[in-house]
Amino acid sequence: MPTTDEPARAGRRGEDGPASRRPMSVDEIRASYAEYADWMHRFEWADRLVTGRYRRERFGDVGSRVLDVACGAGTNFRYVPRSADLVGVDISPAMLENARETLSALDREGTVREMDAQDLDFEDDGFDAVISALSTCTFPDPVAALREMERVCAPDGTIRLVEHGRSDVGPIAAFQEWRADAHYEQVGCRWTQEPREVVDEAGLSVVDSTTGLFGMVTTFEIDPR
Ligand SMILES: C[S@@+](CC[C@H](N)C(=O)[O-])C[C@H]1O[C@@H](n2cnc3c(N)ncnc32)[C@H](O)[C@@H]1O
Repeated sequence: MPTTDEPARAGRRGEDGPASRRPMSVDEIRASYAEYADWMHRFEWADRLVTGRYRRERFGDVGSRVLDVACGAGTNFRYVPRSADLVGVDISPAMLENARETLSALDREGTVREMDAQDLDFEDDGFDAVISALSTCTFPDPVAALREMERVCAPDGTIRLVEHGRSDVGPIAAFQEWRADAHYEQVGCRWTQEPREVVDEAGLSVVDSTTGLFGMVTTFEIDPR
């Protein structure tokens, strides 16, 4: 199990990028989100405009004990059935503060806790569904985080992901590559990481996957082993 402050794995899908030259620690990522949490919360509506349909498709039928890993400001919460027993975890206290506000604004029950996705403080098989959005790009060790998601998911449960990666449209991909270093330095996000590569490297069993938004969004339904 990695320690919470273990540096990012060098070179993951950005061999020449900043992730290999100056890997960010969990503490640096936490500090970065402290800076951007309010801005992200304010413009969450724009995020939902773009990613809402993917979140609805992947998270709209999950239950009953649901864990949202790296829940951020709780953008996923509105897409999870109200009947679900919802738990959100994130490494950033600032993002979690906004997640609490989201729960209150949605007038729904749920708990949020500060926790490292790479070392989840939950027992094995404790959740019926583990969901996560736009997160593997930020985890220092996304493979470890995905294996943790599988560990805490019941064998007959489901893991659902909505992730982003490099576009399959040339000019958009070129722009992403051009901005990738600056983006990583700003928010610790590997913008052009291929989510499918990380999921495969974690050895997860994908039962369904879709792509959208010019190839930039990939969603997964995964069966835990
Ligand atoms: C781009 S935001 C996505 C937030 C939310 N899932 C969403 O879809 O809007 C990435 C989130 O991952 C969290 N994060 C990064 N590294 C983490 C880690 N090791 N453990 C838990 N959360 C982490 C950040 O604090 C941030 O809230």
